Amino acid sequence: MARALLLLYFFFFFFVVVVSRVPAPLLLAAAACVPERCGNLIVSPPFGLVDGSEENKCGLMGFQVHCTDKIPYLGFYGREYRLQILGIFYGNFSLLVSDAHKLVGFNPPSERGCHVPTANSTSKLGLPFSNSPLNQNLIFYNCTKAPPPPETVSRDGLVDTACRNNTFVRAGGPYNGDGGGGGYELEGCNSTAVPVLGKSDSGKVNASDYLELIRDGFLLTWQPTQGSQPDAADNVERSATEVQV
Ligand SMILES: *[C@@H]1O[C@H](CO)[C@@H](O)[C@H](O)[C@H]1NC(C)=O
Ligand SMILES: *[C@@H]1O[C@H](CO)[C@@H](O)[C@H](O)[C@H]1NC(C)=O
Ligand SMILES: *[C@@H]1O[C@H](CO)[C@@H](O)[C@H](O)[C@H]1NC(C)=O
Ligand SMILES: *[C@@H]1O[C@H](CO)[C@@H](O)[C@H](O)[C@H]1NC(C)=O
Ligand SMILES: *[C@@H]1O[C@H](CO)[C@@H](O)[C@H](O)[C@H]1NC(C)=O
Ligand SMILES: *[C@@H]1O[C@H](CO)[C@@H](O)[C@H](O)[C@H]1NC(C)=O
Repeated sequence: MARALLLLYFFFFFFVVVVSRVPAPLLLAAAACVPERCGNLIVSPPFGLVDGSEENKCGLMGFQVHCTDKIPYLGFYGREYRLQILGIFYGNFSLLVSDAHKLVGFNPPSERGCHVPTANSTSKLGLPFSNSPLNQNLIFYNCTKAPPPPETVSRDGLVDTACRNNTFVRAGGPYNGDGGGGGYELEGCNSTAVPVLGKSDSGKVNASDYLELIRDGFLLTWQPTQGSQPDAADNVERSATEVQV
């Protein structure tokens, strides 16, 4: 008898206290947001696949993924400049992306000349993503006045790019996230910094491998409170008001 009462009490406790605390929208969202697939990538909340103008309740703002020919792109800016998603690491709130668009400059359609990157990768980004401190700097130079003297070339480890014409690339330590030359400016040259992850174990990149390095991408991180648990704050608020009542 006492045991039955205890069991009844337990059920009562479970339904009233536990179930009532899980916000209904969270239950609904969890049920609706099944992982989706784009090529080899599994897209789960906070990310969500979007198709054209269709809404997707599972992808938070900024976390929309466009799937084009089974290739996933981070979907929040112009078609031409999108970042390809190479992998999403849900466990540590980071993703590997490639600014593959920059590679086209080195092997352009015949009507456009060969050119080195001129725009920041991370200037295209804003919230919810930030640069990971693991990223390394590749600095591209377009020397418009005169070629740098050979001493400079060897001292700074400047490597000719495929475009030649006084364009160079070098490795420049950890990427600081602002895209500036970060003290690596060369007189008479325009510089653009491009983040690359490289082989994360060595922490070093070889500038000669610039095409491969760009293709292999760089890491972005997101804030878990914004991304993974959109209802966590809501949950806490509810608990607090319940206590008051
Ligand atoms: C997250 O984990 C993945 C897989 O283990 C790893 O490759 C990546 O570097 C990690 N990201 C960060 C920001 O440490
Ligand atoms: C270098 O800069 C000049 C002037 O901005 C530009 O016309 C040229 O295409 C650039 N060259 C390369 C190889 O990027
Ligand atoms: C170097 O620049 C010249 C003139 O701007 C151009 O005709 C030539 O194709 C360029 N070379 C390469 C390798 O892009
Ligand atoms: C890169 O972006 C940062 C901030 O968005 C800006 O301060 C910097 O001048 C940019 N650098 C280049 C080379 O465009
Ligand atoms: C390129 O560098 C020259 C000086 O070296 C500068 O006058 C010019 O404004 C720069 N162009 C860009 C697009 O940054
Ligand atoms: C970088 O790679 C090039 C070509 O693969 C090689 O010749 C050079 O020795 C390498 N540089 C360093 C510092 O390892």
